[in-house]
Amino acid sequence: MFNTHKIGRNDPCWCKSGLKYKNCHESFDQKIADYKKHGVPVPRRDMIKTKEQIDGIREAGLINTAALDLVEREIKIGMSTEDINTMVHNFITERGGIPATLNYEGFPKSLCTSLNDEICHGIPDKNVILADGDIINVDITTIYNGYYADASRMFMLGNVKPEVKKFVEVVKECFELGVKAVKPWGRLGDIGDAINTHAKKHGYVVVRDIGGHGVGIKFHEDPYVCHVGKEGTGMLLAPGMVFTVEPMINMGKEEFYVDEKNGWTVYTVDGMPSAQFEVTLAVLEDGIEILTH
Ligand code: MF3
Ligand code: CO
Ligand code: CO
Repeated sequence: MFNTHKIGRNDPCWCKSGLKYKNCHESFDQKIADYKKHGVPVPRRDMIKTKEQIDGIREAGLINTAALDLVEREIKIGMSTEDINTMVHNFITERGGIPATLNYEGFPKSLCTSLNDEICHGIPDKNVILADGDIINVDITTIYNGYYADASRMFMLGNVKPEVKKFVEVVKECFELGVKAVKPWGRLGDIGDAINTHAKKHGYVVVRDIGGHGVGIKFHEDPYVCHVGKEGTGMLLAPGMVFTVEPMINMGKEEFYVDEKNGWTVYTVDGMPSAQFEVTLAVLEDGIEILTH
């Protein structure tokens, strides 16, 4: 909850910038309080990152992006998903980073590899060999100096069926429209509206119940970023918020299930392909910054 009463105007700002409150977050807090008074759901103070924290997340993002670039250069038919895991694990750790998924709530590997009908949380496996026509999402999260950056990309191997290729391209458009919908003092629902409207137009379905999240100090923070939404509704997007946009979109039906044996991998019920792209971004006063570019 934003409390504009306890801090004196000449006291140090709550954000630990070292500046006096009146020269730092005072007007920000007043603006938030005003939205709140008008019934708009506003972010808690712990969802607002300082410049220093955003700088830290950007640093983690640099390693994370370089790891995805490495995958982009090296991925090929005949490779196992475990090979991708080993390559990225070594790359991140050699640079002083930690792969965030490794041992995260028991997840056994250093990244997620979600193939074809796998929506997310695919586990790298030496027996899963990339084949001609496959599509795969590689989702990497790097911890560096205590800060987290989370991003994923799709890769298409060899001769992907034209309708599947088109699907992946449209999912990328949906994702880009979602990112474009993030504006300082906009609303969380703007994102899901942009994504879902475009997906629906093409006959694809956005997965409503698995979404993006605040990120930076921990792997998964508030708010939950739903990729289905209504423009002008939902939480206020205030400068200092850092979260992911990572729509999972199915070519067929929305229904999914979780692998009973490994407890992680999420599949489409109808066996049709699913695709996803992800970035970590910061809301700034004058726009946004993608921290995983
Ligand atoms: N990187 C995923 C995300 O975008 C989370 C993976 S958690 C894991 O939120 F445990 F499955 F690795
Ligand atoms: Co991710
Ligand atoms: Co994420």
